[in-house]
Amino acid sequence: MATVVPSKTRKGTRSAACNASALSSLCCFLLIVTITIFASDGNAEGLRPAFACDARDARTKGWGFCGTNLGIAERVSDLIGRLTLQEKVRLLVNNAAEVARLGIKGYEWWSEALHGVSNVGPGTKFGGEFPAATSFPQVITTAAAFNASLWEEIGRVVSDEGRAMYNGGLGGLTYWSPNVNIFRDPRWGRGQETPGEDPVLAGKYAASYVRGLQGNLDGGRLKVAACCKHFTAYDLDNWSGVDRFHFNAKVSRQDIEDTFDVPFRSCVKEGKVASVMCSYNQVNGIPTCADPQLLRHTIRGAWRLDGYIVSDCDSVGVLYDNQHYTSTPEEAAADAIKAGLDLDCGPFLGLHTERAVQLGLLKEADINSALANTLTVQMRLGMFDGEPSKQPFGNLGPHHVCTHSHQRLALEAARQGIVLLKNRGPSLPLSPRRHRTLAVIGPNSNVTATMIGNYAGVACGYTTPLQGIGRFAKTIHQQGCAGVACSSEELFGGAIDAARQADATILVMGLDQSIEAEFRDRAGLLLPGHQQQLVTRVAAASKGPTILVLMSGGPVDVSFAKNDARIGAILWVGYPGQAGGAAIADVLFGTHNPGGKLPMTWYPQDYLSSLPMTTMDMRSDPRKGYPGRTYRFYKGPVVYPFGHGLSYTSFVHTIADAPTVVSVPVDGHRRWNTSVSSKAIKVTHARCSRLSLGVHVDVKNVGGMDGSHTLLVFSSPPGSGHWAPHKQLVAFEKVHVPARAQQRVFLKIHVCKYLSVVDRAGIRRIPMGLHSLHIGPITHSISLQAAVLGVIKS
Ligand SMILES: *[C@@H]1O[C@H](CO)[C@@H](O)[C@H](O)[C@H]1NC(C)=O
Ligand SMILES: *[C@@H]1O[C@H](CO)[C@@H](O)[C@H](O)[C@H]1NC(C)=O
Ligand SMILES: *[C@@H]1O[C@H](CO)[C@@H](O)[C@H](O)[C@H]1NC(C)=O
Ligand SMILES: *[C@@H]1O[C@H](CO)[C@@H](O)[C@H](O)[C@H]1NC(C)=O
Repeated sequence: MATVVPSKTRKGTRSAACNASALSSLCCFLLIVTITIFASDGNAEGLRPAFACDARDARTKGWGFCGTNLGIAERVSDLIGRLTLQEKVRLLVNNAAEVARLGIKGYEWWSEALHGVSNVGPGTKFGGEFPAATSFPQVITTAAAFNASLWEEIGRVVSDEGRAMYNGGLGGLTYWSPNVNIFRDPRWGRGQETPGEDPVLAGKYAASYVRGLQGNLDGGRLKVAACCKHFTAYDLDNWSGVDRFHFNAKVSRQDIEDTFDVPFRSCVKEGKVASVMCSYNQVNGIPTCADPQLLRHTIRGAWRLDGYIVSDCDSVGVLYDNQHYTSTPEEAAADAIKAGLDLDCGPFLGLHTERAVQLGLLKEADINSALANTLTVQMRLGMFDGEPSKQPFGNLGPHHVCTHSHQRLALEAARQGIVLLKNRGPSLPLSPRRHRTLAVIGPNSNVTATMIGNYAGVACGYTTPLQGIGRFAKTIHQQGCAGVACSSEELFGGAIDAARQADATILVMGLDQSIEAEFRDRAGLLLPGHQQQLVTRVAAASKGPTILVLMSGGPVDVSFAKNDARIGAILWVGYPGQAGGAAIADVLFGTHNPGGKLPMTWYPQDYLSSLPMTTMDMRSDPRKGYPGRTYRFYKGPVVYPFGHGLSYTSFVHTIADAPTVVSVPVDGHRRWNTSVSSKAIKVTHARCSRLSLGVHVDVKNVGGMDGSHTLLVFSSPPGSGHWAPHKQLVAFEKVHVPARAQQRVFLKIHVCKYLSVVDRAGIRRIPMGLHSLHIGPITHSISLQAAVLGVIKS
């Protein structure tokens, strides 16, 4: 999302017109903002006038929708009853129009807060008293922390800053974040925005971050409204002549159920998100934003979304203009709304919906249902309760943004997300006494904005790697390559000289948005240009240990460095956010013991040879030489596996207590006979609620340094059915264990959710028999046995 489709990819003049109008409305918006700021005395109070129901307007007393003593549903239907068809249609778009006669201002729905309040959407701007916001690490880095309370805490801080900016007239309250698509293909330019390749991890991230943002308030009130996107089976931007506006993802029901749906289901059911965004692509021939099965049946029906469904920006236009899915624009508008779309990011529904009603393609009642969903969210946000300063969070202002504690959390998140991939010797941590002079080399060695990745805002400030390292040691800085493209070896000489003199050498290499980004998938997995040669030649010349630090969202095939004995250690830091350089230095010098783990598989380059990015299948197909995707289905060689990450200490696990037999209560069925115990039982036939198993694991830190450790629990189902994953993450828990101490960790595993597998028809079943739990090197077997209850006659 992010950008309105560039006009060159669109036909006709309509999109150019829409860009111009978007721009002019933006200018008005900025003008208003500037005036309000100059009128203020530095106090947030009173900066933003009421969006609606201003108490000073006597008319509001007679309007039911302003009655804070009434229920939200009643207020919403009162308001809808007062609107004309034309007014309604103008509320179906992100740039929702003012309804002056009812005292309702215009509202820009599109704001972003992927890892900090962002100015990517037009609803939020920096300036005046709000020049910046805390910029947390990119999501793939935060995911590597495997710490659900960290994710929730970040959400809480981001929404404090978002509310403060809203009160100050600069921000929105509807944030179209997070991106919880599965990082299905390592080339995806937007993989950096996601919590990785595992559905359970992504689901846990989604629910935690959304809870942090939205606040869990009484009576369904929202601090800000989050949005899980992009539903679904997206994750291709532009690969080999196929772009996301034309891509038809062919996805099996099996993969939908056990991979693509999982994070979204968790976001809606556990995170209680207030919005879901449909994507640009088609799924099995139907544009997602016009698919009633996906929107009306799954998100709203099966998962019970309490919120609104929004399109990706211009995607209703895309399904008409680019995909030619309908023959008229009115049909496109009608199809989308009837499928369950409530709000269009883009002008399309504003332009074509009224005519669609006149043509009989759509009923006004359909529009009312869409508006009920958006207006309800605005009411839950308090937008119809009068002045922001008199509401909950009305006290938040400029002093609540970029605070010391928020910036500490950005540093803490970066430390927790850094992954130690290799540590030969060990080479790390360095010692400030022995390593007094460091050569700091590489195109990413002194970067700022590169560290915050995409969908970022304006950071409060940066600590670059060079600056961070400079707090511990004297540095000799050399770029080595002019940029990450590293197209020449011109600067190698200086870098090699620096490495010859220094007590240790740090190479900060990797990627940036010129290599992986929205609109830009990667061509391969190797370091770009001559980066690899620089690393190898510097390592060969170094007087002291050589440490490779990789900045990237996606995985990099660094087999050469893994196998090079001259390279002592490798760190992957993702895009570590505004405090990234400080966190890197803390890990290098051991003031923070790294505990991050890879949230995605690092594949070798030749993995790509039989893997079109357009093939969605998660499962391998040996007959076609198709290798399968992610650790769950791919069995071939890897550079580093999912979950890999070292520490400066060592942890030993023992299972203290775990069941060996679990009985699964199953509703009887007269067609069944005793052989039911050898089957895979449909989850819908089992009594699932509260059916969980508890595992107690002792984690002992047997090394000499305090550290945090993430327990990853995988399970593999009985037999080696063709359709089940080899193994699947079912639980994880991060614990801090002081040196030589021991901690007991309790993990609860919901049987139906996590020990079930999905058959070819997309039906979730619990296989009876021996399931193996894998915790590090330990395996524990649990036998699931069906306990048939009374027979149901059906
Ligand atoms: C490193 O980056 C900082 C921040 O952009 C800049 O002030 C400084 O001059 C840079 N140092 C070198 C040696 O390039
Ligand atoms: C896709 O990439 C090609 C070549 O890199 C470029 O010409 C084209 O404009 C891109 N398309 C989109 C929609 O970004
Ligand atoms: C009982 O189960 C077995 C094994 O699945 C099957 O062969 C047999 O036909 C079943 N009997 C009845 C009465 O359904
Ligand atoms: C998880 O993150 C929170 C928030 O930063 C932190 O307080 C806690 O110590 C972390 N847990 C572990 C085990 O590191």
